[in-house]
Amino acid sequence: MSQVPYLLTPGPLTTSQATKQSMLRDWGSWDSDFNQITRRVCERLLAIVQAAGTHECVPLQGSGTFSVEAAIGTLVPRGGHVLVPQNGAYCQRIARICRYLGRKVTSIDYAENAAVSAADVERALLQDPSITHVALVHCETSAGILNPLDAVAQVVAKHERRLIVDAMSSFGALEIDARRTPFDAVVAASGKCLEGPPGMGFVIVRRAALERCEGNAHSLALDLYDQWVYMQKTTQWRYTPPTHVVAAFDCAITQYLEEGGLAARGARYAHNCRTLIEGMAALGLKSFLPAAIQAPIIVTFHAPDDPHYQFKSFYNAVKALGYILYPGKLTTLETFRVGCMGQLGERGIGGAVEAVGQVLAQLRAAA
Ligand SMILES: Cc1ncc(COP(=O)(O)O)c(C=O)c1O
Repeated sequence: MSQVPYLLTPGPLTTSQATKQSMLRDWGSWDSDFNQITRRVCERLLAIVQAAGTHECVPLQGSGTFSVEAAIGTLVPRGGHVLVPQNGAYCQRIARICRYLGRKVTSIDYAENAAVSAADVERALLQDPSITHVALVHCETSAGILNPLDAVAQVVAKHERRLIVDAMSSFGALEIDARRTPFDAVVAASGKCLEGPPGMGFVIVRRAALERCEGNAHSLALDLYDQWVYMQKTTQWRYTPPTHVVAAFDCAITQYLEEGGLAARGARYAHNCRTLIEGMAALGLKSFLPAAIQAPIIVTFHAPDDPHYQFKSFYNAVKALGYILYPGKLTTLETFRVGCMGQLGERGIGGAVEAVGQVLAQLRAAA
């Protein structure tokens, strides 16, 4: 296999040739041409969630977790109290961030194959008036669960609390509409469903909430308020921006819009997800989640029921055929994951299913 393997991972993922090419040019971080790119990226990100009139887009250097931590640290005052409905590793990470930052946190714990329930969130808000914020992971990427964002947002708004959404692996592919779904912040990053390279996060923040955030942050580098104020004043990033990543992200967003935006991206991933689950089922590999809560982003599969199976050698054999799988992230079961996103070439996700089929046949022949 001469070609670089396709990434079946939920970011970094395989970017298009045009996106890769757009990183071949250097940009001056103070230069107005570069700052226009940042402005365009932010305007387009706001438009994707219909938030142009009400929210601000604050970009931030770093991987997605940096932006999640920045959102919690900037939006939740030091005396705040965060409720985290928790059904996977990324929810746990938010709770951990709160503890690191000294923000009080309470969780509602679910099994790894159960979606968050808005009724549970409502009960918790009624029971504890000290809760100021709810932090919800939209698509819990550890198993691939789609959590009911809109239902949770309505409950949070009804009880006059604030909602922070980790939409890392859903932004741009699954609908979020700020006109209908009230939120204070939605966090995502460049290298996920918008198919840019990794390296830049962003937070879509309700302007009225952001204006009240001065002095909340525990960290200078992760202070979204300060980043926003500086950018407004100067049009520049506060500290060295990931210039190549921003330019490539802009290029990836142009392709996203040409493809047909959210509807088309969501439909492509949904098609990949169906083809994957059906194809793997035909090979005897069962997906882990019930269909009703499976997000069309990443699918967890039970490991093959074969005494010779070992993830590492299975992974290496599939990689040799051109596809990089993703290890499972469940605490109790042996699983592996396959992403539905990214530029998967002419053979698409079907090529990946074929590769897995070949490796399984080798495994069975060796048994
Ligand atoms: C839902 C969710 N939140 C947060 C993150 C963390 O992002 P990063 O690994 O880029 O820091 C991820 C990464 O995939 C994610 O899927």
